[in-house]
Amino acid sequence: MAPYNDVAAFHDFLRRITTATNSNGTPRAPRILALCGAGLSAASGLATFRGSTAALWHTRDPMQLATPEAFAADPGLVWRFYAYRRHTALAVQPNAGHYALAALARNVPTGSFLCLTQNVDGLSPRANHPPESLRRLHGSLFDLRCVGFERKGAAHCDYSLQDDFTEPLCPALATAAEGVDETATATVAARSEPLAHIPVSELPQCPKCKSLLRPGVVWFGERLDRQMLKDIDKWVAADQVDLMLVIGTSAEVHPAASYIGEAREAGAVIATINLDAESREGLQNLDPGDFAFGGSAADLLPVLLEPVIGKLES
Ligand code: OAD
Ligand code: ZN
Repeated sequence: MAPYNDVAAFHDFLRRITTATNSNGTPRAPRILALCGAGLSAASGLATFRGSTAALWHTRDPMQLATPEAFAADPGLVWRFYAYRRHTALAVQPNAGHYALAALARNVPTGSFLCLTQNVDGLSPRANHPPESLRRLHGSLFDLRCVGFERKGAAHCDYSLQDDFTEPLCPALATAAEGVDETATATVAARSEPLAHIPVSELPQCPKCKSLLRPGVVWFGERLDRQMLKDIDKWVAADQVDLMLVIGTSAEVHPAASYIGEAREAGAVIATINLDAESREGLQNLDPGDFAFGGSAADLLPVLLEPVIGKLES
């Protein structure tokens, strides 16, 4: 068996699944699933969540801010964090990894490739990833919805807005978005300066019911969109899965990470593309025939997918 990081063997495998035929000789469409994480956008210049001090924002752990509890306790602080993330996401460009996945989606028959991304940064859509093959598991930094959305009864409000790229969202968030000391490269000391409190009255407001608006992302402890999960389950259950690409994710957050096991159960060969894919820990869960490529997704994806997407224009 070829070693796990053999690019030629991966290419052979990819050619085989994309040129397969049914028993009656008709072409058999491949079935490819991908799970992407923050590592896909790292080469664009966005910090990942785990394993580096760059993951800190003003000495706070982003994971502590991405919760309904944090928003309830101090919506101004959480909005500031999201204003900063909107600003940094808009300031960077999609990389070759995003473009390679978008090209894969365009180069296989409709329904053959489903790309699940945990990223809320909007870089896959900006790389023209066809929306029908992309599922944004954790929402988008550029979607907004009323805090009344999940409420029942009279307090329910169905207001939501997609792809709002307004910068800044409101005057009070202008400095949060622009603050140079908030960049991933600033020293922890610079980022530990106290942040001025922003009162609720100065935060984005629902035009319909005047309650607070919140970012359209999934926070820890919240459910993912039920219909989206149903659709993904249906896709996975429809037939054998040939290939599962696990790209730039620590695969620690569920339910996203559980798709790897589900794809394996559906027969998939797993190919991990991650800076630490070839570390001892990374290789631990490999089954015979699986692939692991240690390196940047932006460098590796165009090379690995070349048999299907050709050479990416740079
Ligand atoms: P993590 O920060 O947990 O993991 C990023 C992974 O990317 C790590 O395994 C790195 O080794 C890898 N990596 C870093 N740079 C890379 C590069 N250039 N190319 C390839 N790999 C690279 O991020 P996620 O797995 O996305 O959830 O985190 C999952 C979820 O946890 C996020 O969606 C977010 C977070 O809290 C919510 O906000 C709900
Ligand atoms: Zn409302």
